[in-house]
Amino acid sequence: MIPDEVIEQVRDGADLVALVGESVDLKRTGADYRGPCPFHGGTHRNFAVIPKKGMYYCYVCHAAGDVFTYFMKRFGMDYPTAVREVARRSGITIPEQPSRAGPDPREPLFGAVAAAHDWFVRQLVESPAASAAREYLAGRGIDRETAAPLGFGFAPRGPAFLDEMTRLGIDAGTLLEAGLVIRREDGSVAPRFRGRLLIPIHDLRGRVVGFGGRILGPGEPKYLNSPETPIFQKGRLLYNLHQARNAIRKEQTAILVEGYFDVIRLVLAGVEHVVAPLGTALTPDQAALLRRYATQAIILYDSDQAGLRATFRAADELLRHEVRVRVATMPPGEDPDTLARAGGRDAVEAVLHDAVDVIERKIQLLERKGWFDGLEHRRDALDRLLPTIRAARDPITRELYITRVAERSGVSRRVLEEEVGEAGERAADVDAGAGRPPGRAPIPSHVPPAPAAPRRLGAKDEWELLRALVVAPELLARAGKDLPGEWIEGKALREIFDAMVGVGSPLDPTAVIGRLAPETQLVWSKLVADARALAGQDVVPIYEGARQALEARPLLRRWIELRDRLRLASDGAEQDALFRQQLETRREVESRYPRVAERFHWLKRGRTPGRTGRG
Ligand code: UTP
Ligand code: MN
Repeated sequence: MIPDEVIEQVRDGADLVALVGESVDLKRTGADYRGPCPFHGGTHRNFAVIPKKGMYYCYVCHAAGDVFTYFMKRFGMDYPTAVREVARRSGITIPEQPSRAGPDPREPLFGAVAAAHDWFVRQLVESPAASAAREYLAGRGIDRETAAPLGFGFAPRGPAFLDEMTRLGIDAGTLLEAGLVIRREDGSVAPRFRGRLLIPIHDLRGRVVGFGGRILGPGEPKYLNSPETPIFQKGRLLYNLHQARNAIRKEQTAILVEGYFDVIRLVLAGVEHVVAPLGTALTPDQAALLRRYATQAIILYDSDQAGLRATFRAADELLRHEVRVRVATMPPGEDPDTLARAGGRDAVEAVLHDAVDVIERKIQLLERKGWFDGLEHRRDALDRLLPTIRAARDPITRELYITRVAERSGVSRRVLEEEVGEAGERAADVDAGAGRPPGRAPIPSHVPPAPAAPRRLGAKDEWELLRALVVAPELLARAGKDLPGEWIEGKALREIFDAMVGVGSPLDPTAVIGRLAPETQLVWSKLVADARALAGQDVVPIYEGARQALEARPLLRRWIELRDRLRLASDGAEQDALFRQQLETRREVESRYPRVAERFHWLKRGRTPGRTGRG
């Protein structure tokens, strides 16, 4: 088995345009490339390669997939072979695992679900029995052209599905294990999905592993999902993560919504960094999974009571995994699906833009109920807030929460710290079990634990730089000229930087605060408090050191990337080349930024990037 990280690396490293272009005559059209479709043998340029998404799609035969499916379908390879082939073409070496396990015993299940999916998709497009499903989609404003790349399918009633599976040689036992059929009391089998629109659910490798089946009219259940199977474990997958993860990385944020159509509609509106849990409360495994791709999340659930409960529950789970959480609030009665359908991307962006930190959202709601007004309620208000503070495993977030709650409730920090500390450990242990169906044994976790929050390279320098500017605002004019705002990658810090430069010297704090989003104001107060320690010092060297570190950061990142590639490289020539580049990069840092070079942990190995800004 090839580790998921390696597969991701191969996918990210593959030049899809070049690989497809070896046998298809591609021409650039805007952001995409078009050519004749190799799958149905078209002659017009209906086949699109979309490098930004790492996907291809044919507008005629609806063939769609990523670089691996391309090799599988084009050259009849199985999945691991396709991965190895793409890796080989991209010059990436896959470390050979000692193959004690042999081939994946679940391979037949993946095969059965893939075959079933292909068939379901065809039914939706072609079958007369699927007309109700097509009308249903049209009623939701989703036309055929849109539905096909989403992989929607239709499961008809009747024996056709079983007949087809039998024809393909897939036996009943495999179908049962894959969750595609159920066994009746008399021992016969019947299709699990009958008369439902099917939404495919993919694993991280982009393989279909299960379905959500929506009923077309009124009835129960609204969604019938695949059961737990060896390849489909609801609590360990996030819907759409395989597609969204690059966008999530890019945005450094994941948007969490409740349902399939919420995800689909946001994606269609152009908001791509969105995922959903699969019909259950967010599980610890799902939170850990999300944390692999982003350090921040925005929860966009319904604003009714049930939605709010689910929101805070999911938020606590994310905070326990060191994900920072904001809550976006939709107009009453809307869900992301209706919102995006009615108002498009702008409406969604507006709601996301107004998202506030989860602690602020809790405080807002408690304020609205008047819980800070009287003494008798204040204790209750604190009891609502403390679990969220306790859940915050990241020390900075926890600090900020304590500060904010102390300020709002009038309870001293010391008392809050005690309350949080006391029950903290215990509460975290108990809560870790939340989100699983009662009475079931915990699902063993194969998802690696969230990494020990590697600090973003240079985060400390950004903080130092701003601290220096708070103490010596006369440097702001210079900063405005010799320090491009993009160098400050922390979103809140960037906002503060821009606000400070905008206000200029003398620095009027009220004017700065006026330019900041509510959740950034928290960070600002922390910064000002922290800057007091520098009062009376000459901060010019601090400013200059931090500025240089930020300027050197791209080079340091390149060095880290080379180091990581070197660790995966197995062939000697490649190692030599990487090593030489690595050395050159280091020399460049040493000559251009000697002070940064001195402080950088060149030798540190492992995934955690070295840091600057430490003595
Ligand atoms: P909702 O009931 O909010 O449905 O369930 P929805 O997403 O708005 O569905 P549409 O728009 O009417 O089609 C939210 C999510 O909970 C899961 C599904 O993942 C659904 O998207 N769910 C809901 C189930 O798994 N089973 C159900 O019976 C209902
Ligand atoms: Mn809905």
